[in-house]
Amino acid sequence: MLGPASAELADSFDLAALTEAFYRDPYPTYHALRRHAPLKRLANGGYFLTRYAEVMQVYRDSDRFSSDKQAEFAPKFGATPLYDHHTSSLVFNDPPRHSRVRRLIAGALTPRAIAAMEPALTALVDRLLDRMAARGSVDLIEDFAAAIPVEVIGTLLGVPVAERAPLRGWSLAILGALEPTLSPAMHARGNRAVSQFLSYLEDLVARRRAAPGDPEQDVLTRLIAGEADGTRLSAAELLHNCIFLLNAGHETTTNLIGNALAALLDHPAERARLVALPELMRSAVEEFLRFESSNQLGNRITTRPVTLGGVDLPAGTPVTLCIGAANRDPAQFPDPDRLDVARSPNRHVAFGAGIHACAGLSLARLEGTVAIGRFLARFPDYAAAGAPVRGMRARFRGFLSLPCQIAPARVQ
Ligand code: HEM
Repeated sequence: MLGPASAELADSFDLAALTEAFYRDPYPTYHALRRHAPLKRLANGGYFLTRYAEVMQVYRDSDRFSSDKQAEFAPKFGATPLYDHHTSSLVFNDPPRHSRVRRLIAGALTPRAIAAMEPALTALVDRLLDRMAARGSVDLIEDFAAAIPVEVIGTLLGVPVAERAPLRGWSLAILGALEPTLSPAMHARGNRAVSQFLSYLEDLVARRRAAPGDPEQDVLTRLIAGEADGTRLSAAELLHNCIFLLNAGHETTTNLIGNALAALLDHPAERARLVALPELMRSAVEEFLRFESSNQLGNRITTRPVTLGGVDLPAGTPVTLCIGAANRDPAQFPDPDRLDVARSPNRHVAFGAGIHACAGLSLARLEGTVAIGRFLARFPDYAAAGAPVRGMRARFRGFLSLPCQIAPARVQ
């Protein structure tokens, strides 16, 4: 879309008043912005970035582009549990607060620790596939994509299986409060979820202190132990970072799996290619991450005056990094709107970059590869069986429901 309509689309873009058409398909708007206003000035004085080059430049410059969200979240959340939570987690802090939590978490997400999770993950995926095979008619989000990360992250933090049921709802409510606009109901839901999650974790931490797990594999034990040595975490930091970890790996990974299975429904030739050549699964997962990035937006604020893409930004300017647009930038990805399961090179920015780059990316890749790979091997002919329901969120892109028929219909 390159004509006047495209200029109009860029001109009328308002992050605080997104349309239903945008939520369904934001990419025409992102292309229009990149072409006509790659640093789009927003009503709050901030900028919305859609080119790969500037998004990368900001991610790599954590000195001049801060992740600290206290100034932004104080008016948004007031003195609430949501404010306490979002300003305490590592992703919304700068060094040195960020670095010590990051070290503790990263130490439990090493390639060795992640490889050790594969057998249990494969068994979980196969159990879900068996259960779906017995039904035929399924919802690929509820019955599959959403059922995987909750178990994986639950295991990582040692949450007993019988206590995992509320985790997904809490996670959706807390991350939902990060949308560009927030209704009073979303605000209330988010605050309730933080409070309930905190009181659950207080109890879990007390039990883990009494009976520590293996610090090589159990993140909660590592965070507790970290709290006790020189790099002490306060009790509140410990709890909020556990909540963040549970949330970070949840909806994002659900959406990676759901978006991939939805994209393959829309692109039958790519599906056939992947079914015929399962060795393409690793590059296919990278392409799903690029093509429909489950986390579409990131945020930073300038710490001092800086020139970005030819624009002078004073200190204190908020910038929104549009991952979804950067990953469709034709200057970086030839034919960017084409799904190509063998795309190479594919240096997408779905996991961010720089010091805050996703600490769980190897785990997310493993979950995506095992889940999508085993699903396709088992049900190569799955078909849509009803209208998919989109989450209608700008930041976390995915489906709430994806009804499908996975077994061939019986001939009467
Ligand atoms: C497809 C799945 C995932 C996607 C697309 C994703 C995306 C991202 C992105 C874009 C960031 C950077 C945020 C920023 O710089 O502002 C991030 C940070 C993070 N992610 Fe993920 N993530 C995924 C899965 C996971 C999983 C499974 C875990 C944990 C087990 C995880 C843990 C984290 C943590 C701890 C951070 C904060 C890192 C820091 O601030 O240093 N993520 N993720």
